[in-house]
Amino acid sequence: MSTAVDLNPVSDEATFLPGPLLLLGAPGVGKGTQAQALMAEFGIPQISTGDLLRDHRARQTKLGMLAENLMSQGQLVPDDLVNEMVADRLSQPDTSRGYILDGFPRTLPQAEWLDTQLASGHLSKGQTLPVVALSIKVDYEQLLRRIVGRRTCPVCKSIYNIFFNPPRVEGICDVEGAALVQRSDDSEEVFAERMKAFEQQTAPVIEHYRSQGRFDEIEGDQSVEQVTASIKSALRRLRQESK
Ligand code: AP5
Repeated sequence: MSTAVDLNPVSDEATFLPGPLLLLGAPGVGKGTQAQALMAEFGIPQISTGDLLRDHRARQTKLGMLAENLMSQGQLVPDDLVNEMVADRLSQPDTSRGYILDGFPRTLPQAEWLDTQLASGHLSKGQTLPVVALSIKVDYEQLLRRIVGRRTCPVCKSIYNIFFNPPRVEGICDVEGAALVQRSDDSEEVFAERMKAFEQQTAPVIEHYRSQGRFDEIEGDQSVEQVTASIKSALRRLRQESK
């Protein structure tokens, strides 16, 4: 979810200042699933550029109408439009302890824009911790099953999977009781295009952050809980090392 969240962390993680965290990785690797878990754990917002764009699409804004065609073909939305949308979201006060960027940056120009904005203090909302970047890895066949099996609640945005994490009642959200939906870009054909965009445009972003330090790779082919534990441990270690 990309909307403002209740900032009362629900665990002893309350004393830990997470700062800005980038979740990087291919389509279906588990960025959204993990961002939701971390949001609950740390009380910081998930900012998913995919969710923000889908929201624009649903509201039929100018950006949403432009994005619709590109998203349905598995292509990326132009950098300047996405950057502007992110700047607007990061200016909200719930980002002051940190935030999880899910699906951004995914081109080198987006990464360079973000680096410049954060270095200049324009987007920092009073906190000055540097970015930590974590890249989640899962192999192609597993990604494909995750994508074609994904179902989402249109109300609370909970993420399910008909193969790996089905709802208690087929097709119905456990939390809201709403009928689950399948994303229009979650077909095998569009997935192949999204993977091409990932390999050509986003893989260099991962190398960019690897070369900057405060970076780690996370094995994504484990249970959701194990991946969350790996992310939390890497985040704590990288924050400690960069003090
Ligand atoms: P976006 O919505 O960001 O899609 P994506 O990056 O392709 O990632 P997904 O949302 O498909 O996957 P995810 O990694 O979040 O996986 P999830 O947790 O859901 O972008 C969509 C489009 O918007 C783009 O194609 C582009 O057009 C545009 N766009 C977005 N950002 C942009 C940007 N910055 N610049 C330009 N254009 C942009 O999990 C997937 C499935 O796997 C679920 O069913 C889940 O239950 C299951 N699962 C998760 N973890 C596990 C696990 N550990 N074990 C088993 N199953 C698991």
